[in-house]
Formats: sequence, structure tokens, C-alpha cells
Amino acid sequence: MLSWDEAENTTGATLNNSSYRRKPVSMLLKPLDDKNQINQRTSGTEAAEQTTTGIQPVRAEDKRVVNGQTDINQLAPFKYPWAWKYFLNANKNHWTPLDINMAQDVHDYHHTLTPQERHVYENVLSYLTTSDILAMRNIGLAVMEKMSAPELQIYQARQVYEEALHTWTYQHCIETIGLDQGEIYNRYRVVPEINHKIQIANRRLDSVLRPDIDLNNRDELENFVMAYMFFGAVFEGCWFYNGFSPIFALQRRGLMKGTAEQLQYIMRDEVMHCGFGIRTVKQIIIENHVMPNPKAIRDMWDESEAAEAGYARYILKDTILGYSAEDHIEQFRFVANRRAHQLGIEEPFPGARCTLSWLDEQANLRKEKNFFETRVTEYQTGGALSWD
Ligand SMILES: [Fe+2]
Ligand SMILES: [Fe+2]
Repeated sequence: MLSWDEAENTTGATLNNSSYRRKPVSMLLKPLDDKNQINQRTSGTEAAEQTTTGIQPVRAEDKRVVNGQTDINQLAPFKYPWAWKYFLNANKNHWTPLDINMAQDVHDYHHTLTPQERHVYENVLSYLTTSDILAMRNIGLAVMEKMSAPELQIYQARQVYEEALHTWTYQHCIETIGLDQGEIYNRYRVVPEINHKIQIANRRLDSVLRPDIDLNNRDELENFVMAYMFFGAVFEGCWFYNGFSPIFALQRRGLMKGTAEQLQYIMRDEVMHCGFGIRTVKQIIIENHVMPNPKAIRDMWDESEAAEAGYARYILKDTILGYSAEDHIEQFRFVANRRAHQLGIEEPFPGARCTLSWLDEQANLRKEKNFFETRVTEYQTGGALSWD
């Protein structure tokens, strides 16, 4: 069964897949004389510039997630075949927001939702749209350039596109429903509880947006690991994952089904982003023997929980049928424990309960096609469903 939370097995990568094995050097290169040998410390970019002079072949075992010295322009041999599989699987998940019928949502919003439910709907969209632009900029401008293996960068390039697609999706919902775009897009500036989450993300991620960051410096590397851990495990893995559920609660009652279906497609992408981010962070930790300070990790969870609680109590200051702020906050803690487990670190909130037992099933509902007369969200463009 497809799992929305375990998009990829996070155990160690298999490095000796037969299809990725190196060919013998003799099949690839003529013998080199000494003066044409590239220094082993030559950077990936520099190595690429000298390809016409003859170089040592790229060996999978020499690749590194960061600070690698192998040719960044040569895809294989793979050291991280799981990253390539993420790219292949992501490319099965094609949709656009125009594929989904929003007509009933227009009627629901204007004629069926209560004022409290409209408050939830608008603020969820306001938060998500700002967050997804932030996600696009972070992965494209801060993270991707730090990677020194192309199979990692290629999935992240796809991820950049997906974050842009998500932003289009929210815009499509906002425009189709007929919301005041100027007001919705500016709301994160004037609602402190939304703004606080965005500012936390900006502070944590801006520190690695600098182009001059030197990941050979241990402090800089630890900071980068911490920032990517926050991005994959909290920002995408908890805040996004949990962020869709208020709309799913409406969907369960037959309301705003078009928007919810859009969010189900986005959630499928985000689960993969989270899984990829966590796996990449773990690989950096293994390769560089670096681990962020446990107190820094504790602070990350506490700060994220407090911000999520404030946000939940704002968007759900009036409980809607079947969904409360306390449900949302406890579910955040439950999902945070799951992410910690994936990271291989201590659970931050022992004993947290799953308060939205329907969430995984809701996001993955085969029978939804019959129940809500909409398209199954497991729709993919190619091949059998498989996350690995
Ligand atoms: Fe996204
Ligand atoms: Fe994402």
C-alpha cells in the first residue's frame, strides 16, 4: 500500500546496484601522462572545464553530497541511486490545477461555508502560498547549489518546479473562488500568527542563502545541516503536511472538494520532498561525521511547536465541525515524532497521539473516486505505483 509518510525507505543507500557499476577504466579512457592528470583536489566545476584534456574517471565512491570533488556535470556512476529514483517517481506525478473542477467549491464558499469555515479556508491558503514561494527559493537558491552530486541536484531541480506548481495551484484556487487577491496575499504580513511561522523559516533558511558559505568550515556545515533538517523535517514534513488537514476536514464533509483534491496532489509531492530532504541530511551527517547540537535540535522542535500552536489557535479560534485547534496541535507533535524517527533522532514529543486518524487514509483514498465522484489522487502518468 502506498504510504504518504514513508515516501522512501530511509535506511542506507545501496551503492552497488549492478546497473550503476563502473565500466573498467580501460573502456573509458586512454592512458594519461602525468602532466594531464587532474589533481584529485580539483573542484567539480574545474574538472568539467578540463574534460577535453583527459581526466580520471568519476568513481561513485568519490562522490559526496557536499564538498565533493567529482565532476558535477557527469550524472553516472551513481552513488545515490535513491535520488535518481526520487526524480523518476516525481515525474510520474504530473497534474496542473486546471485539471480539477472547482465549480462546486465556488458555490460552497459563497453559499455553504460558515464564517468560521471561510476564516479557516482563507488563512490556510494565505499561509500556504507564502510558504511555497519560500520553499521554492530555498531549495533552488540555498540548497541545490551546495550539492556536489548531480543526481541530487536533478531531483531538487524538479522540486523547484513543483514548488512553483504549488504556488500556481493556490493562486488558481484564490482566483477561482473570487477572493480578494491583494488582501489574501498580504495577510501573512498583518496576521502575527501567520507571520511568525514565515519569519522563523526566513531566519533559519536565510543563513544558508549566502553564496559565500564555506561548507568546509565545520560551523558552517553544522548550520547548513540544521537548516536543511528544519526545512525537510519541519517546514515540509510537519508544517506543510499538517497544514492541509483543515481543508481535508471540510472535504470529509463534502465541502471544498476541488481545493482538497488540489492539496492532495501537493501533499504527495511534499511527502517526497520531506523524505528526500531527510535522507540527504542523514547522508551529509554520515559522510562528514557532523551532527547538530542536541540543544539546537530541541530548540527547533520547541520553536516550531509554539509557532504551530499559535497559528492553529488563530485559524481555529472558532472550532469547526470535526476539527479543533487542539487536534491540530497534537497532530503536529505526532507527525514531528514520525519525522524524528525518520531522522534517527530522539522523539521530541513522547506519547503524542494521532488525533487525525483519518489523515493518512484521506490523503490516500482509493475509494474516494466513488465516494466523492472525483479522480483518484493516486493517479500517475507512468507505470505502477511505487515510491522506491
Ligand atoms: Fe510545495
Ligand atoms: Fe516542498
